[in-house]
Amino acid sequence: MAKGKKTAFFCQSCGYESPKWMGQCPGCREWNTFVEELPAPKAPGRAAGGRPASEPVTLGQIDIREDIRQGSGIGELDRVLGGGIVQGSLVLVGGDPGIGKSTLLLQMCRHLSEKKVKVLYISGEESLRQIRLRAERIGRFSDGLLLLCETDLAVIKQVVERQSPQVVIIDSIQTMHNEEIASAPGSVSQVRESTSVLLQIAKGKGVTIFIVGHVTKEGNVAGPRVLEHMVDTVLYFEGDRHASYRILRGVKNRFGSTNEIGVFEMRDTGLEEVKDPSKFLLEGRPENAPGSVVACSMEGTRPILIEIQALVCRTNFGIPRRTAAGTDPNRVNLLMAVLEKRLGMDLGNCDAYVNIAGGIKMNEPAIDLGVVLAVISSRQDAPIPDHVMAFGEVGLSGEIRAVSMAEQRVLEAKKLGFETVILPRVSLKAVDKIKGIRLIGVGSLRELMALRFGT
Ligand code: TYD
Ligand code: MG
Repeated sequence: MAKGKKTAFFCQSCGYESPKWMGQCPGCREWNTFVEELPAPKAPGRAAGGRPASEPVTLGQIDIREDIRQGSGIGELDRVLGGGIVQGSLVLVGGDPGIGKSTLLLQMCRHLSEKKVKVLYISGEESLRQIRLRAERIGRFSDGLLLLCETDLAVIKQVVERQSPQVVIIDSIQTMHNEEIASAPGSVSQVRESTSVLLQIAKGKGVTIFIVGHVTKEGNVAGPRVLEHMVDTVLYFEGDRHASYRILRGVKNRFGSTNEIGVFEMRDTGLEEVKDPSKFLLEGRPENAPGSVVACSMEGTRPILIEIQALVCRTNFGIPRRTAAGTDPNRVNLLMAVLEKRLGMDLGNCDAYVNIAGGIKMNEPAIDLGVVLAVISSRQDAPIPDHVMAFGEVGLSGEIRAVSMAEQRVLEAKKLGFETVILPRVSLKAVDKIKGIRLIGVGSLRELMALRFGT
C-alpha cells in the first residue's frame, strides 16, 4: 500500500470530506459527487501563526466608517447588491456557462473605470484578444481598466499588491490554482483555498473582489456552494439561454436584502437593463385566450407582473400528468386538489400543464390565485378578460388569504393599464385609497366562481 501520500474524498458540490468514497454525500445528499484529492497541507502559520492575539471589543469601539458603498453604474446590479458595491467585500457571481457573467462584470468595469476607480480584471478563461473583442461590442473603455490573463494565485496576489486596484474581478474561480495544493484547478480543495487567499486580500487590503463561479450539474467542477459560506454576497445570474432576458438574483447578502432581483436583456451590444420588467414579461401575451391569466409577484420591493398559463386537457393514460414550469409543481398539485375538493371540480382525469410565460421562476404564494384562475379558465375553456390581474394566496379550505404589499401590486397593475384587480377581500382596506381601477375582493374560491370570470 502506498504510504505517505494520504488522500481524501471530497464532495464536489458541498465540500464534504470523507476518508473513503461514497455514492451519496451525507452533507448535501447529492449522488456521485465524490472525487479523490490531496487534502490541503496544514501549513504552519496558516491557522495561528503570526497573528496578534485577538482582543474582544465593545460595539461602540467598532469603526463602521469603512462600509462605503459605491454605485456600479448599473442600476439593476446596485439594487441586487443592496445599494452599491461595498468596499472590501467579496462577491460571488454564479451562473451557467454562457449566461453573461463575464459580460456583466466587464460592463461594470467600464462604468467604474470611467469614474476613475482603478479596476483589475483577471481572466483565466479568455485571452486578452478575446476580452478586447468582447469589449469592442460593449462600447468605449477608458484607460482606468487593467487586464491580466493569469491563473496562478501567487502571481495574482503580487500584482494586486503592486498595482493596488480598488476592484478586482476573478474570472473564473474554477480556473485559478494555488501551488500549495496538488489537486487540479476547479476541484473543491483548489476552489476553497483560492477563495480563502482572495478573502485575505479583500479583507486585508480593503479591495473589493468579484469572483465568477460556474455552476454545472456534472460535479466535475466544484459547486459554488463551497464558496457561499466564505463570501459576503452571492449573486446568481439565471435565465433561459434561448430567451434574451437574464435575471440576477441575490442569494446571500451580508450588506442588504436578498429578495431583490435585477433584470437584464442580452443584446448584441451587451447587457441592457430592463427598468420595467412587467411590461417586458407581458409582451406578446395572447388576447383573450383561455388559460392565460396575469398575476403579480413581489421580488423584493418591486412588483412584477407575469403571465400564468395553464393547459388542462383529458388524460389519455390512467394517471394524469401534471407539470409546472417556472413555479413549484407541488404547489400546483395542491391547488388543483383544493379546486377538486372545495369546488367539486372534476380534474381527476385531466392532465394539467402550468407555465409561467417567458421562462421566469416565481414561487411567491401570491400567485396562487392566478394559477387557480388559469386552471379554471382552461378547464372551462372560458377566457379571463385581458384587463384583469389577480393576486392572493389560496388556503387549503379554499379561502383567499391576504398577501403583503397589496398597494404596490395594485399600483403596478394600474400603471400597466389593467382595469380590474381581483384580490383577497381582507386586502381591500389596504388599497381603498387607489382610484381609477376596479377592485374586486374575494374571500373564497366559491366567491371567485360567482364572479363569472371563467364560468
Ligand atoms: P459570457 O459573458 O461570456 O458568459 P459567461 O461569462 O457567463 O460564461 O456571455 C456569453 C454569451 O453572451 C454568448 O453566448 C454571447 C452573448 N453575448 C451577446 O449576445 N451580446 C454581447 O454583446 C456579448 C458580449 C455577448
Ligand atoms: Mg465568462
